[in-house]
Amino acid sequence: MTTFKAGLVGVTGYTGMELARLLCGHGGLRLVRATSRSDAGRTLDQLFPGLGGLPVGGLTVSQPDVDDLARACELVFLAVPHGTAMDMAAALVERGVRVVDLSADFRIKDPATYAQWYGLEHRHPGLIADAVFGLPELYAPAIRAARLVANPGCYPTSAILGLYPALSRGLAEADGLVVDSKSGATGAGRKAAVGSLFCEVADTFRAYNLGRHRHTPEIEQELSRFVGRDIRVSFNTHLLPINRGILSTCYARLARPATLAEVHAAYADAYADAPWVRVLPQGALPETKNVRGTMFCDIGLVVDPRTDRLIVVSCIDNLCRGASGQALANANLMLGLDPAEGLRLAPLVP
Ligand SMILES: NC(=O)c1ccc[n+]([C@@H]2O[C@H](COP(=O)([O-])OP(=O)(O)OC[C@H]3O[C@@H](n4cnc5c(N)ncnc54)[C@H](OP(=O)(O)O)[C@@H]3O)[C@@H](O)[C@H]2O)c1
Repeated sequence: MTTFKAGLVGVTGYTGMELARLLCGHGGLRLVRATSRSDAGRTLDQLFPGLGGLPVGGLTVSQPDVDDLARACELVFLAVPHGTAMDMAAALVERGVRVVDLSADFRIKDPATYAQWYGLEHRHPGLIADAVFGLPELYAPAIRAARLVANPGCYPTSAILGLYPALSRGLAEADGLVVDSKSGATGAGRKAAVGSLFCEVADTFRAYNLGRHRHTPEIEQELSRFVGRDIRVSFNTHLLPINRGILSTCYARLARPATLAEVHAAYADAYADAPWVRVLPQGALPETKNVRGTMFCDIGLVVDPRTDRLIVVSCIDNLCRGASGQALANANLMLGLDPAEGLRLAPLVP
């Protein structure tokens, strides 16, 4: 297998650490640069002793430097906050380096919508049209040809995969959709914050950002594509006292009377060629432990004829499927590698 040289900006964040873990088992990508402003000069196994003896463990962390990254790497992952990624992405793409951006900077196609939800003007609006939304099940051909991939957000990955068959096949009404999502605490990143402290997260459960979560426009943008018109979604988020995992319960009104068997057959057909989407048997519902550390999106279906509703439960690991694993799948596609390289992952147990 051809081996490509990869860089990772933001290796000390949760998604960066997850990517470093996944790259240990990848035959076609060699990590040659990993950056952090605070921890430059130390080796990865000094920072994360669990990487000791593994292929990436001896790599010395460097300062993020676009020229150095461009000289050393054929593809760079940007695992940094939004607002930071856009300048690096533009500079790297200009130098001919392929980029997978894990931040939100290139996901939203309309710069005004980005400015409204993220509170800052986009500094490279001309590059947004070039960026491909990196959901492999839906956009693999475009991802293969892309120089810049906007890796989807974690919540949007679960919501979009959960609702795609229902909307694209006209099973559900596009108006009045509710996506009720719960995430583990790594979703907020590794930076210190009172709200992420153990005693604030453990042994409790709370809602946050109801009606105003930044992933809303991304979900609306993609679901709108399925129905060919702009739609609105009530997207609401909750913080679970667990490290990893997202479970989204999506409520939609049935467009016409349908049985569970009918809806299940449509979902199974829509994802027949999608090995990472597991449409669970009728009557089964997903849970976070079954997808932990994997690329799987597990989908459970309920038809409630009493309320005329289709309920879709969609479950992923926010760090793997919702970020770094998906980024690796996109890199595989961009480089012409086996899409599943490094991603044949069974769930972490227990
Ligand atoms: N956590 C999730 O579940 C998740 C899921 C999907 C997408 N994402 C997105 O992925 C990105 C990374 O998320 P995360 O949770 O891994 O964040 P994080 O834990 O806060 O880590 C951020 C990383 O970026 C580096 N960094 C911060 N500011 C930087 C700057 N100005 N220049 C260069 N490097 C900088 C940090 O190291 P130094 O400060 O030492 O440089 C750190 O390594 C974010 O855009 C996030 O929205 C996260």
